[in-house]
Amino acid sequence: MTPADMDFIAQLLKRRSGLIITSEKQYLLESRLTPVARERGLADVTAVIAKLRTGDEALARTVVEAMTTNESFFFRDKTPFDQFEKVILPAMLKARAATKRLRIWCAAASSGQEPYSLSMILKEKGAQLADWRIEIVGTDISTEILARATAGVYSQFEVQRGLPIQLLMKYFKKEGEQWRINDELRSSIQYRTFNLLDPFTGLGNFDIVYCRNVLIYFDEATKRGVLTRVAQLMPADGFLLLGAAETVVGVTDVFAPMESARGLYVKSATAKHEAMAKISAA
Ligand SMILES: C[S@@+](CC[C@H](N)C(=O)[O-])C[C@H]1O[C@@H](n2cnc3c(N)ncnc32)[C@H](O)[C@@H]1O
Repeated sequence: MTPADMDFIAQLLKRRSGLIITSEKQYLLESRLTPVARERGLADVTAVIAKLRTGDEALARTVVEAMTTNESFFFRDKTPFDQFEKVILPAMLKARAATKRLRIWCAAASSGQEPYSLSMILKEKGAQLADWRIEIVGTDISTEILARATAGVYSQFEVQRGLPIQLLMKYFKKEGEQWRINDELRSSIQYRTFNLLDPFTGLGNFDIVYCRNVLIYFDEATKRGVLTRVAQLMPADGFLLLGAAETVVGVTDVFAPMESARGLYVKSATAKHEAMAKISAA
């Protein structure tokens, strides 16, 4: 691959998905795009890039999808889910007691383990949430990975990563070598394709946003832009959760980390104090 080819593909990926690919990551291009070349009957990745240069829109979409990293697992990193149960839910059940409505957004939902983990926590609350209307929206740039999320079918390996056995037995059914999540959980999530680089119109507002393990692929300006737009969809007392290797610190001041709960972010310093006051009064 020539430096000009590398530059072309890096720019295409950044423009279309935010993904930053540096020349040291050329191996990633080779490993992810060689199967694309094969499927299209093209000789190699250089030929894929040559075809992209002709403005092949369908190929560009395939290339963007192929370059996404869809790694996810149930209750990933545990803490963001413990915090959902122990900090966020108690605060929100109090704050939204009048409307009994809550909207949650998994902004990089991938194959669905994150929204399904949240949904299982909610289902475990049983009668306590019976008259609440809680919506979970799962979005991702990749239509292909969302098809997997919608199907809710996981391998033995996937259900062994982070999912407690009692939840596996309760909410999944074994089908051959695979495990299928039950229909009640499956239908509790609304999935839709959405690119975080696009305008955030038509999504509505969200009380809680999980935007985990996606900002790591973006540059600072893109991270800042996404977080600024996420903040615009959230009320003052909303909660944001990022991945273990991600932070708002040094990127934007629209969100602030909560002192008492690592990895949890609230809007601005004022909101931070309000949220802290609510939790300590709970
Ligand atoms: C590593 S997964 C994270 C999944 C889950 N949030 C977790 O933490 O386990 C990253 C996801 O971000 C998605 N993604 C990458 N760029 C995106 C963009 N510009 N807009 C929306 N989703 C994007 C990828 O398709 C991928 O499924």
